[in-house]
Amino acid sequence: MSIISIAIDGPSGAGKSTLARSAASSLGFLYVDTGAIYRTIGYHIYREGIDPRDAAAVEAELPKLRVELTYGQDGLQHMLLNGRDVTAEIRLPEVSLHTSAVSGHPAVRAYLLEMQRELARTQSVIMDGRDIGTVVLPDAAVKVFLTASPEARARRRVRELQQRGTPEPLEKVLEEIQQRDWNDTHRDASPLRQAEDAVLLDTTDMDFQESEAALLRIIRERTEQ
Ligand code: DC
Repeated sequence: MSIISIAIDGPSGAGKSTLARSAASSLGFLYVDTGAIYRTIGYHIYREGIDPRDAAAVEAELPKLRVELTYGQDGLQHMLLNGRDVTAEIRLPEVSLHTSAVSGHPAVRAYLLEMQRELARTQSVIMDGRDIGTVVLPDAAVKVFLTASPEARARRRVRELQQRGTPEPLEKVLEEIQQRDWNDTHRDASPLRQAEDAVLLDTTDMDFQESEAALLRIIRERTEQ
C-alpha cells in the first residue's frame, strides 16, 4: 500500500484537530497534531519565564530540549519534554499565547521541520497545523484549508470550555482568537496561508457531522480511499 499524506491547515479553533483525528481514524491513518509539538516548546519557554518574543533567548533553549511524540494506550498523541509527559500542561491558555509568539521564530520552525517530515515518511498521516501544505509536506496528496469565522470559532471554544468546567467570557475568547490569528498570519517565518492547491473548507455554518462528512468527501475524492 502506498504512503499517503494529508495536510490540514487553518486558524486556531477551526476544529482541525477534532476533525482530522476523526478522519484519520475512519481512514486508518496516523493523526499528527503539530500544534501540540509547538506547544511543547511554548510550555518550556513559559515555565522558564523567558520572554517568548526574545528570539535569541528562545533559540538558546533549543539544544536543551528533547521533544518526543508518542501514542498512548488510549491511541491519543502524547507529548514528552525531556522524558516527561506534558500533554495536559501544554493546553493551558498562557501556553497558547506563548506558543503563538515562540512559533514565529525561524530557529524554532527549523528545529521542528525534520521531525514532522520524518513522521510522514514511513506511514500515511493526516497532519494538522499552519504550514503543513505550504512548507512541511508540499507534496501532500490532499491539502485542506479548514476555517470558520472568528465569531463561530469563539462560540465553539466557549462551549467547549463550559463543558470542561472552566468557563470564559465570549469577548475574552474572541479577543484571544483574533490575537492568535494576527500573530499566525503576520509572522515572517511560514505564516498561516492557504496553499494554492489546497481545498477551502469553511465550516462557519456547518455542525460537526456536516464538517466531518465534507472533510472525508474531499479526501476520498482525491485519494480513492
Ligand atoms: O494548533 P494549535 O492552536 O494547538 O497551535 C498552537 C500554536 O502553534 C499556534 O499559535 C500556531 C502554532 N503552530 C504553528 O505555528 N505551526 C504549526 N504547524 C502548528 C502550530
